[in-house]
Amino acid sequence: MRIPKAHIVLVLGINHSIPIHKTKQSQAMEKGNLTIMISRTCHDHHFCIAILLSILLFSSLLCFDYFAIFHSPNHTVTFLATNTDSCTGRYIYIHHLPPRFNSHLLHNCHSLTRGTDKPNMCPYMQNLGLGPQILNSQSQHVFTNQSWYATNQFLLEVIFHNRMKKYECLTNDSSLASAVFVPFYAGLDISRFLWLSNLTIRDSSGQDLLQWLEKKPEWKTFWGRDHFLVSGRIAWDFRRQSDNESYWGSKFRFLPQSMNMSMLAVEASSWKNDYALPYPTSFHPSEDIEILEWQRKIRYRKRPYLFTFTGASRPEVEDSIRGKIIDQCRNSTACKFFDCGVEKCDDPVNVMKVFESSVFCLQPPGDSYTRRSIFDSMLAGCVPVFFHPGTAYSQYKWHLPKKRTKYSVYIPVKDVNKWSVDVEKVLLGIPEGDVLAMREEVIKLIPNIIYANPKSKLDKFQDAFDLAVKGMLERIEEVREDMRNGRDPSIGFADEDHYKYTFSDNYS
Ligand SMILES: *[C@@H]1O[C@H](CO)[C@@H](O)[C@H](O)[C@H]1NC(C)=O
Ligand SMILES: *[C@@H]1O[C@H](CO)[C@@H](O)[C@H](O)[C@H]1NC(C)=O
Ligand SMILES: *[C@@H]1O[C@H](CO)[C@@H](O)[C@H](O)[C@H]1NC(C)=O
Ligand SMILES: *[C@@H]1O[C@H](CO)[C@@H](O)[C@H](O)[C@H]1NC(C)=O
Ligand SMILES: *[C@@H]1O[C@H](CO)[C@@H](O)[C@H](O)[C@H]1NC(C)=O
Ligand SMILES: *[C@@H]1O[C@H](CO)[C@@H](O)[C@H](O)[C@H]1NC(C)=O
Repeated sequence: MRIPKAHIVLVLGINHSIPIHKTKQSQAMEKGNLTIMISRTCHDHHFCIAILLSILLFSSLLCFDYFAIFHSPNHTVTFLATNTDSCTGRYIYIHHLPPRFNSHLLHNCHSLTRGTDKPNMCPYMQNLGLGPQILNSQSQHVFTNQSWYATNQFLLEVIFHNRMKKYECLTNDSSLASAVFVPFYAGLDISRFLWLSNLTIRDSSGQDLLQWLEKKPEWKTFWGRDHFLVSGRIAWDFRRQSDNESYWGSKFRFLPQSMNMSMLAVEASSWKNDYALPYPTSFHPSEDIEILEWQRKIRYRKRPYLFTFTGASRPEVEDSIRGKIIDQCRNSTACKFFDCGVEKCDDPVNVMKVFESSVFCLQPPGDSYTRRSIFDSMLAGCVPVFFHPGTAYSQYKWHLPKKRTKYSVYIPVKDVNKWSVDVEKVLLGIPEGDVLAMREEVIKLIPNIIYANPKSKLDKFQDAFDLAVKGMLERIEEVREDMRNGRDPSIGFADEDHYKYTFSDNYS
């Protein structure tokens, strides 16, 4: 992820930790395009300062109105204010949507039941979308004492919204905002219609939302390019490519207004304006200390199994990697197969108990490329084993390290039929020291992949929400900078990026 360079930092010598991308400031800097462009490519600060000084000198000679910007009383006030405002460049405006786009869906939770394997979605709405709390007595010492919930993955959009309501840099003045959050419960909404054949009905509420957004003054500022929304369902559910009833999903993300916006989802599609964020796990701490306690607990767990696979077999899918992995697991005394066809896998206590007892956790693609289990297993300190780049490496770029070997094992399966790798042998071949280093990295990553309780705020740790907001703000700032530099923001914005789902040398 390219982080926009801090041009003001170089000019004024302000502490680097102060975020600098503020709308007003950026507007002030707009006239100094040259400065912005050079500072973006500057890596050697002495060199940069030399260039900047010469620009300042040069522009003063030419009576460039750059100095007027700095010296006009209004702008001086802006600069003084931004130095102390830690929200500079991070202000977010939340759209106040009609309740049919969010809260009504929660109140009518019985209508959401269809199509999910849950008999009733209503209990999961409790605790701001975290679901029912898991009591200490039920957790059989698998968990730490508090902050564990039976969280449903589809509620991520609700959890995210509730976190956003407590975000420290909200503004009601949309002209100050660097980004506009659209709290549409896209996944819950579409879950009512995904299994209907009538395409008009499948597409209608998304269309309705976009028409509402487009009429708002906030739309016109950047044609929606600073707008983003969140889905607890995979992005493919909104990417129907043909108006044919046999195709899956709605075409929400192919509608013109939607193409100007960004969407965060538990799994991104192969279009560039879809971004991935971790599935919610069951752990929603309120304080830093709870994370430290949990990390300490799992760091020293005894792990009797070398590897585990948790999931259901799919006998109907022939030649699936999943089937081969289950066979291998069943054959190995070092592997624990937790069969979701038999055991209760929607009970976090059962699942986490297995992950806490294993060194490696196999994560083959299932119905889609990603699985919630990636994050549950990492939360338990189990090192993930991936078989496809689309399962994690090309997805969670804001949350997981770029260097995959630091925290995971990769056994690419390009052709299931020709695949004959002995997983146990591969895992046994990894030196003990490497295994420990990977596990330590996984444990270190825990704050990145969890969603803190929206009722409170972590102090030192940044959680998955914080990283997603940071990533989104940086991306929107890039687009804004392109526009400032006279480039057409639509170029490359919503293009297809096949590379996300192909076996690439980047991950070899
Ligand atoms: C959690 O429970 C254990 C035993 O039940 C107790 O020793 C420990 O102090 C508790 N920790 C917290 C943070 O309440
Ligand atoms: C925005 O306005 C609402 C309603 O007037 C108010 O409750 C809220 O506190 C305001 N938020 C901010 C960040 O000023
Ligand atoms: C789909 O639903 C719409 C709205 O209820 C209706 O007008 C239309 O006739 C239906 N289309 C089909 C093919 O049934
Ligand atoms: C819809 O797709 C199916 C399967 O691809 C195909 O058999 C059918 O002819 C298509 N229908 C139309 C109207 O294009
Ligand atoms: C999308 O953004 C482009 C500018 O990048 C703008 O011309 C277009 O009108 C926008 N589309 C909609 C539907 O607002
Ligand atoms: C499992 O073990 C049996 C007996 O040793 C062997 O025939 C079979 O090929 C093994 N299957 C796999 C997937 O390794």
